[in-house]
Amino acid sequence: MSKTVAVKELYVKKIRNGTVIDHISAGHALDVVKILGIGRGEGDIVSVAMNVPSKTASKKDIVKVENRELKPGEVDKIALIAPGATINIIRDYEVAEKTRVKLPDSIRGIVKCANPACVSNAGEPVEPKFMVERQDPLRLRCFYCSRIMEKPDVLKQF
Ligand code: CTP
Ligand code: ZN
Repeated sequence: MSKTVAVKELYVKKIRNGTVIDHISAGHALDVVKILGIGRGEGDIVSVAMNVPSKTASKKDIVKVENRELKPGEVDKIALIAPGATINIIRDYEVAEKTRVKLPDSIRGIVKCANPACVSNAGEPVEPKFMVERQDPLRLRCFYCSRIMEKPDVLKQF
């Protein structure tokens, strides 16, 4: 079979209802699974395809979660870990909504600062806030104490 034909094959079958997170940069599907806490005993049906050929990038990962539509907070988490991913909400086999995730210039409330002395960890009503210095690879700077947080630091919290 020629390579061109293989690209057209469906790697994971279509789902009836749920969420497809597509165009995840190759190798990052499991980070997405981790940050969403999916598959952790809640009975979620999750399919993961890794390193599949893609139209735009050379390879991509895909995560499909059946019978569950992601909440806005979960979409923001995906933006941290997989900038450029596409979130497709599937209803009755059709793509009902398609959103390309985008990381804003600053993020609040999702990630905690790793510096124990940071004012955002002092038990005060100060919501953690970070400036996004770089999207990929991720680099965040705490608005209060300037602590740099990178992707592994963020993943540790989920
Ligand atoms: N998909 C699915 N189940 C469905 C419908 C779609 O798993 N019932 C998946 C497709 O396999 C694809 C993603 O959802 O990975 C988006 O579907 P679609 O918009 O039809 O594909 P494309 O046009 O290739 O998407 P894009 O333009 O975002 O690349
Ligand atoms: Zn801080």
